[in-house]
Amino acid sequence: MCGIVGYIGQRDAFPIIINGLKRLEYRGYDSAGLALFDQELIYKKTKGKVADLEQLFKSVEDKKGQIGLGHTRWATHGEPNDINAHPHVSNSGNLVIVHNGIIENYEPIKQTLLNRGYQFNSDTDTEVLVNLIEDVMQKEQVGLGKAVQIALNEVVGAYAIVVFNRQKPDEIVMARLGSPLAIGIGKDEYFIASDATPFIEFTKNAMYLEDEQMAIIKKGKEPDIRNIKDDRKIVPYIQELQMSLDQIEKGGYEHFMLKEIYEQPDVIRDTMRGRVLPEQNLIKLSGIDNHLNKFLNADRMIMIGAGTSWHAGLVGEYLFEELARIPVEVEYSSEFRYRNPIIKENDIVIPISQSGETADTLAAIKLAKQKNAFIYAICNVVGSSIPRESDSGTYTHAGPEIGVASTKAFTTQVMVMAMMALKLAKEKGTISMSEYNMYLSELASMPEKIEKTLQTDLYIQQVAHHYKDATNALYLGRGFNFPVALEGALKLKEISYIHAEGYPAAEMKHGPIALIDENMPVFVIATKKGQYEKVISNIQEIKSRKGKIIAIVTEGDEQVKNLADHVIEIPETVEAFTPLLATIPLQLLSYYIAVYRGCNVDQPRNLAKSVTVE
Ligand code: G6P
Repeated sequence: MCGIVGYIGQRDAFPIIINGLKRLEYRGYDSAGLALFDQELIYKKTKGKVADLEQLFKSVEDKKGQIGLGHTRWATHGEPNDINAHPHVSNSGNLVIVHNGIIENYEPIKQTLLNRGYQFNSDTDTEVLVNLIEDVMQKEQVGLGKAVQIALNEVVGAYAIVVFNRQKPDEIVMARLGSPLAIGIGKDEYFIASDATPFIEFTKNAMYLEDEQMAIIKKGKEPDIRNIKDDRKIVPYIQELQMSLDQIEKGGYEHFMLKEIYEQPDVIRDTMRGRVLPEQNLIKLSGIDNHLNKFLNADRMIMIGAGTSWHAGLVGEYLFEELARIPVEVEYSSEFRYRNPIIKENDIVIPISQSGETADTLAAIKLAKQKNAFIYAICNVVGSSIPRESDSGTYTHAGPEIGVASTKAFTTQVMVMAMMALKLAKEKGTISMSEYNMYLSELASMPEKIEKTLQTDLYIQQVAHHYKDATNALYLGRGFNFPVALEGALKLKEISYIHAEGYPAAEMKHGPIALIDENMPVFVIATKKGQYEKVISNIQEIKSRKGKIIAIVTEGDEQVKNLADHVIEIPETVEAFTPLLATIPLQLLSYYIAVYRGCNVDQPRNLAKSVTVE
């Protein structure tokens, strides 16, 4: 978490850094800061958003400088306030640093520095690090780059840091272990950022630092990239970015979340493009084709992920087991990584991640690799750490997702797993050819069906208005729609702050039913395919306790209509693909409820989109 932007070149750094920070606010937004150097070092920081920071830079003089750093924070050490905000400056006032990550052994280092006369203003681990670097420079009589390297070999933890020295303002040093850093390469200028969005309009040439690498960047010179541990020189791998500016702007929508919900038909098309080929009866996934034997011989798949991506993994479990008859386990990455999991030769570990940077998922991959597992990543951000650490995989092609609440990332992850499961079902012969053809053409029809589902928007606004003041909500689904219930509840709680729980509908009787009264909205996925009659019995049970029922039903359904307070229709599809449709109204409901409650939909409190600390 935390977003970092840096610039060194011929342009004014201020607008580049401020706009870049705004694009990175999804990574954290409890405080922000910015440092520039012209004749002198100017730095300002504040609790609050990047827009609050911008207000602090009033005069033209304030905004001068062709080198600078900026930071938007998600607090780990020290509460979000002005003092703890980054950048942090060393005791001499020479070094200025921004940091994303956690220095775990900062306490003993701080103690040593205190004994040596250093003073600290903030509670942060970052201020300790910048003074450690300064101390190394003085003790060892070395330049900034070498000092950073020596200091980082003393610290334990995770970091992306960017630092410069006001006495040598022609150079920026940066390093990475666990938190991402991209470098945009222009003509005689460099852009540095946590992802490539801050510099997309300036250059398409970018490189990403790998873990344990650092770079020294000087105007007009090739970046000097080194391995932090052994100083080995690294040849930079420069890639061309595929992203465009309009992908990361709101495009007329009030919020990114709404834009991203509405992008789903198109991005699902992108996920399938060149892969789902019904006229050839084919699903082409090079990741699987290149490792087909691994998949055909797989005894088990282990899906790992966090948050919404974990929910997608749960849908995957139903898909792979139902269609391809491969046993699946789904684990939170944060649990998997710490419990000495049993991994056998024929297991496939499938990390699922939108950002490709989630610290727990990355650590879980590393553990699985140590146990010789084959790792197949399902990821959205091209070139991010998780796919780079994996043996193979499939990108979701959802495009940049900026709203903190994940929407299109989820449906595209589910789509990837539907394609994989169906392809493997055909290869393994676990479904008949006619079933395969039916599923394939159904898959191809999903974008149109999602478009149709989105037409419920106006009605959903009315329903949302009705329940905007609820304090609790329950989400119920069975089978493939149980994970959809979990995801619906997560969407509501994260952006509207209404307490919500997702449950398998039949489990309601084992606890949540005690909560049901006339004030409790219960969202039930009650589509025709699947255990329809059983869900209807569950609806009856809610009704007899006066709960309010909002049901997601199959088009034309009459039975549930007579029981529920509100029904939202979705097009008919096979049970296995229902999550791709049933999720959409739940996304819209959460969105509108949050808007009616006046919540900050795209940047809900305490959350961050990319969780790069464990
Ligand atoms: C955060 C985000 C969620 C996301 C989760 C996992 O909690 O707010 O939207 O589902 O991280 O992130 P990943 O990028 O690995 O999918």
